[in-house]
Amino acid sequence: MCKKLNPNMFKMMPRLLQSLFLLSWGLAAITAAHAGLVSPAGYEQNRSALLNAEEELMTGGHLFLNTQEAKANDIFMKYKREELSQGFQNAEQNTASLHFFKAKELIDRSSVFKFLQQMPKGAQLHLHNSAAVSSKWVVQHLSYMPGMLRCANAAGVSILSFRRMPKKHGCFTQYVAVANERRSYSDPMLYDQYFERLINLYTPMPELEYLQVWNKFQDMFDTIGDVLNYRPAFRAFHWQLLEEMYNDNIMYLELRMGLKKELYDEYGHTYPMDQAIRELIAIEERFKRLHPDFLGMKIISTTYRGASLESMQRNIQFYRELHEAFPNFVVGFDLVGQEDLGKSLYSFLPALQELPHTARLFLHAGETNQFGTSTDLNILDALLLNTTRIGHGYALAKHPVLLNAVKARDIAVELSPISNQVLSLVWDMRNHPGAQYLAMNIPLVVGSDDPGFWNAKGISYDFYYTIMSLAPNNAGLRVLKTLVWNSVRYSLLQEAEKSRAYDLLEKQWSSFINRVVAGDTEI
Ligand SMILES: *[C@@H]1O[C@H](CO)[C@@H](O)[C@H](O)[C@H]1NC(C)=O
Ligand SMILES: *[C@@H]1O[C@H](CO)[C@@H](O)[C@H](O)[C@H]1NC(C)=O
Ligand SMILES: [Zn+2]
Repeated sequence: MCKKLNPNMFKMMPRLLQSLFLLSWGLAAITAAHAGLVSPAGYEQNRSALLNAEEELMTGGHLFLNTQEAKANDIFMKYKREELSQGFQNAEQNTASLHFFKAKELIDRSSVFKFLQQMPKGAQLHLHNSAAVSSKWVVQHLSYMPGMLRCANAAGVSILSFRRMPKKHGCFTQYVAVANERRSYSDPMLYDQYFERLINLYTPMPELEYLQVWNKFQDMFDTIGDVLNYRPAFRAFHWQLLEEMYNDNIMYLELRMGLKKELYDEYGHTYPMDQAIRELIAIEERFKRLHPDFLGMKIISTTYRGASLESMQRNIQFYRELHEAFPNFVVGFDLVGQEDLGKSLYSFLPALQELPHTARLFLHAGETNQFGTSTDLNILDALLLNTTRIGHGYALAKHPVLLNAVKARDIAVELSPISNQVLSLVWDMRNHPGAQYLAMNIPLVVGSDDPGFWNAKGISYDFYYTIMSLAPNNAGLRVLKTLVWNSVRYSLLQEAEKSRAYDLLEKQWSSFINRVVAGDTEI
């Protein structure tokens, strides 16, 4: 049993068998050691056999790096080791363990981060449209569009709108024009700061506001919602969304958004329900013409999970219609909102089972810390419902049978570490269960969920925590490259689209690697 694995034989095994094999092989070495049978030389041999077994099992464990990639990896690892050792010496600068709100300024200056920003990242597969664009841009552009009004709803939450009669759309108080309100401030900059707080969760002391964060988070979707139904704002916003992703070296998106919306314009005219999709397709086409190396997007339709069963059924019916009309654009369905408030997937079973067989599910599941609750079991139902990917899957680590099923069925888990931290599932990111998923080679992709609501942008900050906090210290380009390639592999691109995506990715990747090796990057 202690002789070295035959690599060819190993590669021919299916993935699941590989892991079982490595596990049992490792176990044998440990059992022997425990029984005191091991000679000093044998101890070393078995020790490195165990290390190898874990490294082989790890995400990227079998990836081969060519000479240029190996050189780029050395450069990356130098940055990474420097940052880790600096953090080890000075806890206040330990970005890997710090809350994003405390770490962001350090991350912005970090070489690892600059490397990741410039690295082609493939596809972004977990992103919600309303929260995708940086709040700074929303303030600087949308809040300066003529006609924006602000009022409060019955719960006292600010609602923004461009409608002539916002009372019908959630306003409870009188409304004021944002331009007038801004003028009444001595300093418009102060007003803009106040305004940005309406759509951004940042706080210098996240430890103090940690508990109510979900309420504020949900409120922000209400604050911005009707702004994005205003056609001029809808267009500008989604164009900026594509810009921010593209500038972060993302080449394709699967965007989650609520589709049951009625766009309106400056003349008080309202549009049919499918107008939002038509607008998005036009924006996407124009963006692709300007940026031939951007491959576009597809839409995952979302519905609030707090809805009644009847309303869920109506939403599913509406999704069916859009899916039939735009089969390669509106590709999937998902439920959104805090899982812990109840309304489990199981309770929506009668509605979810009505989905047509071509519809794919991309269910948020297990975004919780409450082991054994109905929320926690959403992962189980997501699997029984044949979900294509799992959003977050934070609780999956506690369910070994489900974890094995996810691996055996090759279902990707969409990691969004910063989201989990800001929404208070985890404080020190080194404790994020994604570390286990990487160690066990669970199929993973990285997404950024709602970056605009917490001062992030694109997907690079989530990659930063993934490689600095979730992956082991010695992990570099092999893990990164695997995650990037996974983003295409687990996407819903069709065969021809996928092979084009891989071709483009190969080109972008080798050009990036060559620039890194030549020292021709902005790091
Ligand atoms: C290492 O582990 C094996 C079991 O896999 C055990 O039989 C052997 O005694 C150990 N190696 C040595 C040389 O002690
Ligand atoms: C599950 O979904 C896949 C596509 O993701 C499909 O090929 C398969 O037939 C589905 N299985 C069942 C049992 O519906
Ligand atoms: Zn999400």
